[in-house]
Amino acid sequence: MLIFKTVVELQQFLLSYANKTIGFVPTMGALHQGHLSLMAKAIEENDLMVCSIFVNPTQFNNKEDLEKYPRHTDKDLAFIQNAFADNAKLVIFLPDVKEIYPNKIEKSYDFGNLSLVMEAQHRPGHFDGVGMVLERFFDVVQPTRAYFGEKDFQQLAVVRNLVKQLKLPVQIIGCPIVREANGLAMSSRNERLTPEQKEQAANIYKFLQDAKQQAKILSVEEVKNNFISAIKNILALQLEYLEIADGNTLTPITNWEETTYCVAFVAVFVGNVRLIDNVTLYS
Ligand code: PAF
Repeated sequence: MLIFKTVVELQQFLLSYANKTIGFVPTMGALHQGHLSLMAKAIEENDLMVCSIFVNPTQFNNKEDLEKYPRHTDKDLAFIQNAFADNAKLVIFLPDVKEIYPNKIEKSYDFGNLSLVMEAQHRPGHFDGVGMVLERFFDVVQPTRAYFGEKDFQQLAVVRNLVKQLKLPVQIIGCPIVREANGLAMSSRNERLTPEQKEQAANIYKFLQDAKQQAKILSVEEVKNNFISAIKNILALQLEYLEIADGNTLTPITNWEETTYCVAFVAVFVGNVRLIDNVTLYS
């Protein structure tokens, strides 16, 4: 496993891969099985896998969230090393903020409807930060393919949009959500939950599964109301939003006839930890 901390060193090394395929897995560390699934796919499909670990300050709209974001690089490196023992395809990029943002930049993107709904609405500026850091990473790494988890479903749509807008020659690959045995979607933020909170948070997926059972049988409004009351009954959980939307455009629907690909999206607070999840209701 090779580790680079600067853009210059990484790019110097990548010169020898000019005619090879590079799979890129951008992360913010606090790695879990979900990240490993992205890396495994990137390793399988490419000559080299580059994983970045960088907590990107520009995508945090909440200072406390940025400060409390779990950081433990040594543990992350050991985790990758153990998972892919003796694998010669591993490159880890550990830049600091100055490497990624040598000049102060502030950019805003128009992702159309994706800039208006759900995460964009509740985390102003978040996707501008994601856009800025990925534009920089794609420029530095020049990946053939880049891998993103479907837990951040809207982010995946934003990244596809970004790549299309900028005409970048990278293929964006979405990978399925990896869940704990109790159904809780894996997330770096889960590290901030107590064991009891983790059990309570597992209800988010349970209620999404209930919504899936009810889709097309009850009305959209009834399904939403049932989800909202179920969450209200668990005192530890506070719903920020629930949207039932078209899985391609992310436009909320009020009637099942409006889409043939329907996804339910939620953001829920467990204490002061904000979790998101989604389930395809039908497609
Ligand atoms: O999904 C994440 O962890 C981040 O948003 C990403 C894609 C690494 C950009 O900082």
